[in-house]
Amino acid sequence: MAGPMNKRVNLIHVGIGLIGGTAIGILRTLRDSWESQFGIQIIHRAFIDTSGGVACDEPNGYSATTIDRLLAARAGGSKVTAAAPGIGLTPRTADEALDIALSMGPCIVVDCGASSGTAGLSARAVGAGHGAVFSNKAPLALPWSDPHSQVLWSETHCGGRVRYETTCGAGLPVISTLRDLLDSGDAVIEVSGSLSGTFGAIFADLAGGAPFSAAVRGAKERGYTEPDPRDDLSGLDVARKALILSRTMGNPVDLDQIDVESLVPDHLATVGVDDFLNGLTSEDAAVAARVATANQNGNALKYLARVSPETGVSVGIGEAASSTILGSLQGPENIISFRTSRYDAYPLTITGPGAGAEVTAAGVVADILPLMRELGEG
Ligand SMILES: NC(=O)c1ccc[n+]([C@@H]2O[C@H](COP(=O)([O-])OP(=O)(O)OC[C@H]3O[C@@H](n4cnc5c(N)ncnc54)[C@H](OP(=O)(O)O)[C@@H]3O)[C@@H](O)[C@H]2O)c1
Repeated sequence: MAGPMNKRVNLIHVGIGLIGGTAIGILRTLRDSWESQFGIQIIHRAFIDTSGGVACDEPNGYSATTIDRLLAARAGGSKVTAAAPGIGLTPRTADEALDIALSMGPCIVVDCGASSGTAGLSARAVGAGHGAVFSNKAPLALPWSDPHSQVLWSETHCGGRVRYETTCGAGLPVISTLRDLLDSGDAVIEVSGSLSGTFGAIFADLAGGAPFSAAVRGAKERGYTEPDPRDDLSGLDVARKALILSRTMGNPVDLDQIDVESLVPDHLATVGVDDFLNGLTSEDAAVAARVATANQNGNALKYLARVSPETGVSVGIGEAASSTILGSLQGPENIISFRTSRYDAYPLTITGPGAGAEVTAAGVVADILPLMRELGEG
């Protein structure tokens, strides 16, 4: 019997930090098995970071040796374009690298960037019939009226050329579950949960009696926050996830329409990080009072996202019954609960780690595989 047909697909790596780099590592270990099992040939065609990029016009893309040298240079602190000449590569702008890659056959942009600045690259690729996989939420959270939003979201349907499972809950099957529910004719009543490992860790410590300022400091020390914890405490990251869930449900909400409760006090919004952490004691009494009220109600205080076709999207502190899985959540894990027509009395619930390099990068790779099978050309 003949083996599977060999499909060739070019990968354009946009963002080669923690997640992008880990995904490239996983893909390289899978190269031979994908070829023998699925007949898919992975071609590493371009690498792009904030400095610009490089792209290869040889049929088989970059060799393992070149990729090793490029990643080693980045691990040493060099950007792609600074490292390129030393490896015999030509530094390009991101757009030039994209153009070269797109001229080489079917491509998938693997967007593991960390801002909306990458949206133009993936939108251009998707608009030209190629695919894109995102761990980066920002391009999918641009205003709905932005032309990039139209291009990207028009391909998020079942079988579309845009995949974004890891933008919400990292490696957990959140987006695919929601899509399966919708596509099988279920009606969503509410999707809710704790979508941030940072807030999960902080609110678990609050439940244990820690003052708010100490809980934030502890979360930072254990690596659960961004270098500036305000990037988490503003609620923006959770709001972006809630927005992506809402748009997946067909409601094209914008960030400025979402009611977001920030835990960054106005008077600490612009001071240095140390002053912020020290100043946070001003909030301890107020937060402790909310924890006590929740306890009296038999509930636990959590930072919750709620997405509903009826009531819209809200993100902020709320109470969850201590008897539920959500209320008893004790750490940075995520929990997402789908209440639908079919899962009403007992919501469908997904829980597990909602961040981390390996699980997130593996989720990116899992999104790439079906897209490669659809786009690949023999
Ligand atoms: N870490 C997790 O557990 C996790 C989970 C789910 C989703 N995510 C999301 O995955 C993305 C990547 O996370 P990470 O932890 O890998 O971040 P990271 O280590 O900071 O890496 C980000 C990468 O994106 C590049 N980049 C940023 N803006 C860009 C732009 N405008 N054009 C081209 N490249 C750009 C950076 O380039 P330079 O190197 O030049 O700065 C860097 O290579 C983020 O959006 C994050 O929210 C992360």
